[in-house]
Amino acid sequence: MKSVEQVRSVDTSALVSEIDSGNSLVLEQIVHRFGEMVALKDINLNIQPGEFVSLLGPSGCGKTTLLRIISGFLKPSSGKILLDGRSVETLSASQRGVGIVFQNYALFPHMTVWDNIAYGLRAKRMPNASVNSKVGEMLELVQLGHLAKRYPSELSGGQQQRVAIARALAVEPKLMLLDEPFSALDKNLRLDMQIEIRRLLSKQGVTAILVTHDQEEAMSMSDRIAVMSQGEIHQFDTPSQIYDQPATKFVSTFVGTCNLLPVTLVGRETSDYVVQVPGGGHLQVASQTPIQPASDLLLAVRPENLRIQAQPTVYSLSSTVEMCLPLGAVTAYEVQVSPDTKVKVTQPRVPGTRLLEKGQQIYLELASPHACSLFPTVS
Ligand SMILES: Nc1ncnc2c1ncn2[C@@H]1O[C@H](COP(=O)(O)OP(=O)(O)O)[C@@H](O)[C@H]1O
Ligand SMILES: [Mg+2]
Repeated sequence: MKSVEQVRSVDTSALVSEIDSGNSLVLEQIVHRFGEMVALKDINLNIQPGEFVSLLGPSGCGKTTLLRIISGFLKPSSGKILLDGRSVETLSASQRGVGIVFQNYALFPHMTVWDNIAYGLRAKRMPNASVNSKVGEMLELVQLGHLAKRYPSELSGGQQQRVAIARALAVEPKLMLLDEPFSALDKNLRLDMQIEIRRLLSKQGVTAILVTHDQEEAMSMSDRIAVMSQGEIHQFDTPSQIYDQPATKFVSTFVGTCNLLPVTLVGRETSDYVVQVPGGGHLQVASQTPIQPASDLLLAVRPENLRIQAQPTVYSLSSTVEMCLPLGAVTAYEVQVSPDTKVKVTQPRVPGTRLLEKGQQIYLELASPHACSLFPTVS
């Protein structure tokens, strides 16, 4: 008779394989050097089956290098890669069974749409009847059935990209790697494609990794985002956590807009801290991590998390309006909070209310002690 433990483990694995057709991916201590240059330093990631993850960071931070390492096109200097729990170091790119879509489509120019999509299936020696039905299914999925006989040069950029995606999906990869696939598309088409690809991949339960330098794209498409800078992952978390609780100064300014105010720790208020803007007022802030007494810090606060008051409150910054920018849905102000420091503040626009004018005296407070982050000055 099976023990309860055995029965449970059998049941669970059956369930997982039914729900999640995608692979898990684990990266452990990946390092990559190009000669002297260290392109990736100790990358660790644990991606769940069926998850959509973005690698987000500025140009040159190592995103493509990491994607090439995952795909098998590049061997890391050191580190481990586990796909679906199995080490894949010794497997070539094609043996790993990952689908790849690059920025420049890389369709075969001398083949029709139909032949491009069929290419990987024929390479796997799939019988003709199966190839026909699979290509048909893929064409329907990306809604390009009517263009099956065209050549890539006869398609728009967006259509070519859809063919590239259909070609990659046709072989039913367990992991899909997308390197800046939307960057050549204009804004409207990009949005359509982002929605469509997200839908296609979710429908098939494919695990996906998207490389992008576009924070809005990463925020809108991903289950989790790995924010990268100079070969390191600064934070791996959900879009809302990354926006609300940036882990480093880099993340706070790379994702969204953030004011960085030099402040000094001057006291405690229950479990929160009281900080002072040098030459200015005090604010009450919460911190995820303990702060050393008398430390010099940076307060990271987003423009929408500062509130404008007409009268001083217990913790507020006496400030002067420097500039008013009515942007439509919101009004942005530039505000002087100390002789050396200006901040940006945005407020939702309420019809009928008067805009603040240059030179006007106001008081700024935090929307909540949690609506900010504190970082050491050097981070
Ligand atoms: N084949 C290569 N040889 C030498 N250096 C490279 C090579 N590929 C990339 N690099 C360098 O590695 C760093 C990371 O590049 P890359 O991964 O392409 O960045 P990203 O995709 O984030 O823009 C850059 O400094 C780049 O110049
Ligand atoms: Mg790149």
